[in-house]
Amino acid sequence: MNGEDAPRLVETIPDMRAASLEARTGGRRLGFVPTLGFLHEGHLSLVDRARERCDRVAISIFVNPAQFAPDEDYEAYPRDLQRDLSLADDRGVDIVFAPDREEMYPEPPQAWVVPGSLGDRLDGASRPDHFRGVLTVVAKLFNVVRPDLAVFGRKDFQQSVLVRRMARDLNVPVEIELAPIVREEDGLAVSSRNQYLDDGERRRARAVPESLREVREAYREGERSPAALGRRGRRVLEEAGAEVDYVEVVTPDTLETPPEPAPPESVCALAARIGDTRLIDNARLAGPTTL
Ligand code: PAJ
Repeated sequence: MNGEDAPRLVETIPDMRAASLEARTGGRRLGFVPTLGFLHEGHLSLVDRARERCDRVAISIFVNPAQFAPDEDYEAYPRDLQRDLSLADDRGVDIVFAPDREEMYPEPPQAWVVPGSLGDRLDGASRPDHFRGVLTVVAKLFNVVRPDLAVFGRKDFQQSVLVRRMARDLNVPVEIELAPIVREEDGLAVSSRNQYLDDGERRRARAVPESLREVREAYREGERSPAALGRRGRRVLEEAGAEVDYVEVVTPDTLETPPEPAPPESVCALAARIGDTRLIDNARLAGPTTL
């Protein structure tokens, strides 16, 4: 493993522990990017970041049943390990950890990592138990991979806040870095679920980044009420025929509504359904953005 060879495919926990020890020999730093697989530019940007900061990079590919509700797309979630391995190879990944379900959950867990109130809001309100499933699998992956650095995307805003908080609360010896949202040319955040959209839905999905642009524009023009800003974003989505789950302006660390005037680092987060596909996105009210 020198960053030049094809990535090593590791499928069991003992083999991953051994690969991690070897990767970290002599004080080398191991970077880690957990994923559900079916890799795209969003995932690969996290790999690039981990490579910049570390000597070795591992990714995990595991469609985690614990974070999908019974009526969600666990079975239908796209999977293509050969394609993922080739993309990982192109981006210089050293280790691909791709355990099967039995390896990660030989029996139903009795111990879970359960989020506090941060997990109840936004996505947590409409996806009960989702973040419990995410935090539990991320904690398990951290315990197996033992990375020095783990990179997460800001695309999954609430997830990134919760993972950071979990690492702090549980004293996990890992640095968490958050990376910017990678977008398609028209602004739609890259996501594996975008492929569920038919052509008409894909066009209507432009309203998602458009609504965040509208909120930022309103802020630039002086609107400082979190509720009014949220309504501006919601209107753009509704006009495009999206079914809005939430559009909320929140303080990044607490996910609470900020006081008025909303400070520029507040985040507008949203979830909306276009047809059957639920999309999420977010952006700061002002300052750096990939929109
Ligand atoms: P997944 O949806 O595959 O995403 C893996 C990582 O890629 C997450 O940190 C996510 O925020 C990031 N990501 C996805 N799309 C992105 C984009 N357009 N720009 C930047 N980053 C993006 O999130 C999960 O998997 C799972 O919940 C996981 C953390 C792996 C636990 O099962």
